Amino acid sequence: MIKAVTGTKDILPNEISKWNYLESVVRSVFKSFNYSEIRTPIFEETSLFARGIGEETDIVGKEMYTFLDKGQTSITLKPEMTASVVRAYIEHSMASKQPLHKLYYISPMFRQERPQAGRLRQFHQFGAEALGSDSPMLDAEMIHMVYEILKRLGLKDLMVKINSLGIPEVRENYKKVLREFLLPKKNLLSEDSRKRFDTNILRIFDSKVESDQDLLKNAPMLINHLDEKSKNDFEIVKKILTTVKIPFEVDSKLVRGLDYYTKTTFEIVSGKVGSQNALCGGGRYDLLAEQLEGKHTPGVGFAAGIERILLACENEKSFNIPEEKLDFYIVTIGENLSEKVYEAASILRQRNFSVEFDYQNRSTKAQMREANKLNSRFVIFFGGDEYLSGMVSIKNMQSSEQRQIPISELQTINID
Ligand code: HAM
Repeated sequence: MIKAVTGTKDILPNEISKWNYLESVVRSVFKSFNYSEIRTPIFEETSLFARGIGEETDIVGKEMYTFLDKGQTSITLKPEMTASVVRAYIEHSMASKQPLHKLYYISPMFRQERPQAGRLRQFHQFGAEALGSDSPMLDAEMIHMVYEILKRLGLKDLMVKINSLGIPEVRENYKKVLREFLLPKKNLLSEDSRKRFDTNILRIFDSKVESDQDLLKNAPMLINHLDEKSKNDFEIVKKILTTVKIPFEVDSKLVRGLDYYTKTTFEIVSGKVGSQNALCGGGRYDLLAEQLEGKHTPGVGFAAGIERILLACENEKSFNIPEEKLDFYIVTIGENLSEKVYEAASILRQRNFSVEFDYQNRSTKAQMREANKLNSRFVIFFGGDEYLSGMVSIKNMQSSEQRQIPISELQTINID
């Protein structure tokens, strides 16, 4: 039997109301902060991600779904949106239309990672990118928006972690300091961290190996080596978060797995989802547009994993979706009235009521069972002598009150 590919998931009808609810919260928060939606293609030229995210990152090095198309172009299914949004911003000269663009998205992403709870190969993110300003107010706004979304979804067990990675010159100098500190201990590092020592030394902070973390205990920290502007901007971000009462923790080890970050970075982790606990991550990327051959365009953004958030919501039992209700179920009694029932349903549906009836010639009892299962607010009975005299019965399923009405009244019926 053919099954869905490992690490992908069907979202079945009984789960979709959670997704729709989450998406409605996301859209309403983005609207209140005046963000506009952007949709980009599912695939891009591979070089966009290689250049944007960084050749040495896990995403580009190990996780991308890359293939040659029939024209021998190397194509990659998007593993994230930031590079695509910046590509679209440059390609459509969006800067010439207005200096600041505040954009959001909800989209599937693809990464060939080892699947586990909260880690899939096709997963979904919502996120935002603000392009065209280096104001730290926007850094705070990103954290504020996603925190607000998570709060409206009823999540409580959250920790906001923030850090600043400074400007590249400062970071390069700091990497030298860190290299000097770790060089005498290099042989004691895990194999992965030894590799990172040469390729991307900051990522050693991400190591899950305890002995690596022990070796890092007295390491010099980037946050203490920041340039004045990064330091001031970071102070402003902290002040705003304090003002709007968002609790946070400065985590000087938060380096993030993508190479484009400058200055502020952040993550929000949940205490309720196991080891894959980052519900979202983001930060500033003031040099990305130039790396992609655009003009200098400061930017900041975040993305959040929808599957992980829904898992946290489930584990915290954070929200209850009201059960879907049907407005009318039409029960047919006796003779074959299919086109008449179809016509009545059509009249009601045109007035935007939700309507269902029987397609399988079932007994009246089975039809009533179905009406109950579908949570129908009213049942309309079609058939018998009553129908021959131009009438139908309508039953309010909550109060059990039943009355007769002329069939023609279905055109004007009100149920509120
Ligand atoms: P990221 O940290 O790679 O950042 O991903 C953001 C979020 O996507 C993660 O915190 C997690 O919730 C979710 N996620 C990532 N990988 C998976 C996976 N395999 N399965 C399920 N969920 C996953 C970015 O993608 C950046 N583009 C964020 C950003 C936007 N930075 C600036 N602007």
